[in-house]
Amino acid sequence: MASAPVLVTRRLPEEAIARLTASCEVTLWQEERPMPRARLLADSAGKAAIITLLSDRVDDELLEAAGAGLRIVANYAVGVDNVDLAACSRRAVMVANTPDVLTEATADMAWALVMAAARRVAEGDRVLRAGSAWVWGPEMMLGREVYGKTLGIVGFGRIGRAVARRAGGFGMRVLAAERSGGAAGAGGAAGTGGAAGTGGAGGEVEWLPLDDLLAASDFVSLHVNLSDETRHLLDRERLARMRPTAVLVNTSRGPVVDEAALAEALSAGRLFAAGLDVFEAEPHVHPDLLSHPRVVLTPHLGSATVDTRRAMGILAVDNVLEALAGRRPPALVNEDAFRRPKA
Ligand code: GLV
Ligand code: GLV
Repeated sequence: MASAPVLVTRRLPEEAIARLTASCEVTLWQEERPMPRARLLADSAGKAAIITLLSDRVDDELLEAAGAGLRIVANYAVGVDNVDLAACSRRAVMVANTPDVLTEATADMAWALVMAAARRVAEGDRVLRAGSAWVWGPEMMLGREVYGKTLGIVGFGRIGRAVARRAGGFGMRVLAAERSGGAAGAGGAAGTGGAAGTGGAGGEVEWLPLDDLLAASDFVSLHVNLSDETRHLLDRERLARMRPTAVLVNTSRGPVVDEAALAEALSAGRLFAAGLDVFEAEPHVHPDLLSHPRVVLTPHLGSATVDTRRAMGILAVDNVLEALAGRRPPALVNEDAFRRPKA
């Protein structure tokens, strides 16, 4: 049997590419930028599998361009908001993602932002680099205490639960948002809400309606998937429920927060600080967030460790190899596409 043609839309860690190349005919986009749309469409033609990044939109147009031989789209991410799942299922194209392997790294990143925003780490770094005069003072650059405070987790899936486990070491009270109206839950690929009251590591979790959680939390960390229900979940009204001393952390997807409303709340002193790893229109960052001293910014680095990125690469490749062998990919998202025979 001739080896199957596979498109990979960015260089993945070497081990993953080597594994794929061993049994497939790989077309690899080598540049460190997303494939231009026209090139993506052209290079998809005739492929049996495509490994996509979260910056690649997978929709009817792309599926059409790929043609009837396409079996699987393996997203190199846990989030699949860039993929039109219904369109893939309609054509019996399997969609897979990379859950679990990035849970702990992303939870660490959320905590890095909690700590950095609470204790003004990036701001302090900038003060020193600017060569500004400074002297230790009782009221110099005061931040917010983390130990013993209340952490509200919105989206209690795999990553939300991993963030909660870490809170045990900080003696925190942990709140999780109830999925009232389907709005606040993790849902779908990033993991569904876990069993109530299981924070792990001996931690107790209290479930509250989202609005009550926002009012009661010193720190709010977002871990929902992006969907129609979670777009602008933290809008102007919800941000106004947060405490003026609170810190908001987002490592999920940028559009979950209304960035303009967040920038306003920060400027007006209605929120202490924010730690943001994701943005509404990446790579663009709202200018008022860029200029606010107590906003800590990282360029979508949630899963960006050597170990995790390697594991994501291996899992994405395994998803492809299993699908091409006619078996169920280990991280299949749309079950119906596997069961339904190809037309
Ligand atoms: C990254 O944001 C991911 O969804 O894996
Ligand atoms: C501060 O540096 C302290 O020792 O309290």
